[in-house]
Amino acid sequence: MENPFSFSGIVDDPAFCNREKEQAELTRLIKTSQNVLLYSHRRFGKTSLILKVFKQIRGVTPVYIDLYGTTGIPDFIRAALTGISAAEPKIKRLMQLVRETITGFSVNFSLDPVTGLPAAVPQLAPDRKTIPVEQVFRLAEAVSAKKKMAIAFDEFQEVARYGGEPFEKQLRACIQQHENIAYVFAGSQKHLITDMFNNAKRAFFRQAASFPLEKIAPEAYVEWIANLYRRDNRTIDNALIVQVVRRCDGHPACIQEFFHHLWDEKTVSVALIDQLERRIIRRRMAEFAYAWDSLTLNQRRALKLIVFTGGKSLYAVDHLAAFGFRTPSQATAAVDKLIEREFVVKNGVYQLQDPIFKRWLELSQNIGQP
Ligand SMILES: Nc1ncnc2c1ncn2[C@@H]1O[C@H](COP(=O)(O)OP(=O)(O)OP(=O)(O)O)[C@@H](O)[C@H]1O
Ligand SMILES: [Mg+2]
Repeated sequence: MENPFSFSGIVDDPAFCNREKEQAELTRLIKTSQNVLLYSHRRFGKTSLILKVFKQIRGVTPVYIDLYGTTGIPDFIRAALTGISAAEPKIKRLMQLVRETITGFSVNFSLDPVTGLPAAVPQLAPDRKTIPVEQVFRLAEAVSAKKKMAIAFDEFQEVARYGGEPFEKQLRACIQQHENIAYVFAGSQKHLITDMFNNAKRAFFRQAASFPLEKIAPEAYVEWIANLYRRDNRTIDNALIVQVVRRCDGHPACIQEFFHHLWDEKTVSVALIDQLERRIIRRRMAEFAYAWDSLTLNQRRALKLIVFTGGKSLYAVDHLAAFGFRTPSQATAAVDKLIEREFVVKNGVYQLQDPIFKRWLELSQNIGQP
C-alpha cells in the first residue's frame, strides 16, 4: 500500500481520520440553510472537513472560495467569481447568467486547465474604488437556480484586513438576502475571525452559528491508524499510536508527519519515535531559531512559562517570579502579544500553536514540567 499519510495540504480518504460527528453536524447546518463560523487552530483540518462534506452532500450545490492571499476587494471578487462559476459546468449557460446579473464590470471567460470547468474572470483595476459586490451574489443565486447552495469562504478573516468596514457591511447585506444559501465562514486566526462575529460593533455580529473544530480523539486515531496498518498486512501497537498523538498534542498535521515517516519503517518502537522526533526538530531548527530571535525578552519568558506550567496557573506568583516577571501585567502583555502573533492559543489553557516548536523549546531550553 502506498504511504497513506500526508502532512501538507488538504486530505481525503485514506488520509482522513474520522470527524464523523463534525461531518454530520456541518451537513445538517448546511441543509437547514444555517450560516456557520468554522474556526480552529491552524492546520486542524477545516479545509479538509469542508471539502469532504461538499463532496458527499446531496441536493446542495457546493461553492468553495479560498480567500487566502487576497488583499483587497478586487481579489475578493476574483476569488468569489472563480468559485461560483465552477458550480456551473455549462459555459454557455454561465455566460448567459453573467450577462443577466453582472453589469458593473466586465467579465472574461476561460476554461480551468486542470478541472476543465468554466471560469468567469473579472476585469478590474486594482485601484478601483467601488465595485458592486452584490452582483456577484446575484450570480450565485442564478447559478443555484431553485436548488440550495452552500458557499464556503475559507480564510474569511482576510476580509477584516482589507481595512474597510463599509465592505463588511455590504457583504452582510448580501448574505442576509439569501434564504436558499448557507454560508460557511472558515478561518484559523481565532482572535481576528471570532471578533468579526462576536463583537457587537462589527457587521457580522451573530451572523453565523459558532462551530469550533476541536481535536480528533486519540481513540479515533488509534482506530484509523491501526486499520491502515492492517490493510497493509502489518500490525502496530496501539500504545505507540497514543504515544505519537500525545507528543503532537493531538495536532493532526503533526501526527500525519510522524506516521508518514514511520510508515516506511519495518517496525515501530519508542526509540524510533524518539529518533524521528529529533530528526523533525533538526529539520526545522533554523525556522525555530528565527522565530525565537524575533521575540522580545518578556515574550520568550512567557513562552517558557507556558511550556513549564502546561498552560495552567500561569500567573501564580512563584511561577511569575521563576521566569523573571516582576508584575502579572508584564506577563499578561507578553502572552497577549504571543496570541496575536499566533505562537500561542488559548483554549481553556494556554498552548503553543506548533507542538514541534514546543518540543524544540523543551529540549533546547531544558524546560521540564513541574
Ligand atoms: N480528518 C483528518 N484526519 C487526519 N489528518 C487530518 C485531518 N484533517 C486535517 N488533517 C491534517 O492536517 C493538515 C491540515 O489540514 P487542512 O489544510 O484541512 O487544515 P486547515 O485547518 O484548513 O489548515 P489552515 O489553518 O492552514 O487553513 C493536513 O495536511 C493533514 O495532515
Ligand atoms: Mg485551510
